[in-house]
Amino acid sequence: GAPVEVDISKLEDGQMVRVEWRGKPVWVVRRSKAVLQELSTHDGELRDPSSEEPQQPSYAQNEFRSVKPEIFLALGICTHLGCSPTYLPDSFNEQVNGVSSGFFCPCHGSTFDMAGRVFAGVPAPLNLVIPPYQFLDDNTIIVG
Ligand code: FES
Repeated sequence: GAPVEVDISKLEDGQMVRVEWRGKPVWVVRRSKAVLQELSTHDGELRDPSSEEPQQPSYAQNEFRSVKPEIFLALGICTHLGCSPTYLPDSFNEQVNGVSSGFFCPCHGSTFDMAGRVFAGVPAPLNLVIPPYQFLDDNTIIVG
């Protein structure tokens, strides 16, 4: 499939834009400073906090799993059985590990944080997959 261009100039904190690449949904989210700070607080509750699993691109093997901390891209596909998780920008799961935002899969209840890292003890075995992408300029991303 052809690479897909994403304009993020209008994307505000907490907003998500969805695009399709190779028939798969790709999420692009602008994370606020508060969300970024929160990401470092719950490593102990995650299955693979450092994203050591093999399918991660090298530029996603960092605390934020992204090229730029504030912009997060992931495939919007649950790593359990492929359902589409729901994005919960700020109301997520006081009951799940005290984390206030992330992604929730309605099929079997898997939960992911705002870096797409899967929590321990849910059905999904892996963090959300990060697609290949690069920045053309500050406001333009090429996926693929
Ligand atoms: Fe998402 Fe099963 S497909 S939890």
